[in-house]
Amino acid sequence: MTKQQEQLVAWLNDAHAMEHALIEVLERHASDASDEPEIAQQIQTHLEQTKDHAKKVEMCIDRLGGDVSKSKELMSKMMGMMKGASSDMFKDQMIKNALSEYTSEHMEIASYKALIAAAEELGDTETMATCETILLEEEAMAGWLDKRLAGLVKNYLVNLE
Ligand SMILES: [Fe+2]
Ligand SMILES: [Fe+2]
Repeated sequence: MTKQQEQLVAWLNDAHAMEHALIEVLERHASDASDEPEIAQQIQTHLEQTKDHAKKVEMCIDRLGGDVSKSKELMSKMMGMMKGASSDMFKDQMIKNALSEYTSEHMEIASYKALIAAAEELGDTETMATCETILLEEEAMAGWLDKRLAGLVKNYLVNLE
């Protein structure tokens, strides 16, 4: 493996750890949203996509001849970044979850854009195509959150007792 390919594998491993951290976050958020079927369904759908992203990234690492990092440190670092300030249940938990997801999806968008550029530079068209496919789903989720955020906040305040 060239130095450049090693770097690409390291970045793919960061993305892989991020997806795994998000699987846990989205599972929790889906159950927090159990009273809001439309939101719970959207989170559930993206949870399935997130599991698929982790698998797709793993295949890219394998194809490059790299090892999928099982580093606990990397996982917990990503987990800390993704889950937000606290896992305690707040009255405004749905808002906190939405903010955390909004941030996570944009973090993913930035990561996959960076990976696409790196794969392009290395002439790795398969990794590029995979990351482009994943990017579309991250952008769709970010777009959905963007549309829902203001309404969610206003609705929360109207119903606040
Ligand atoms: Fe993802
Ligand atoms: Fe995502």
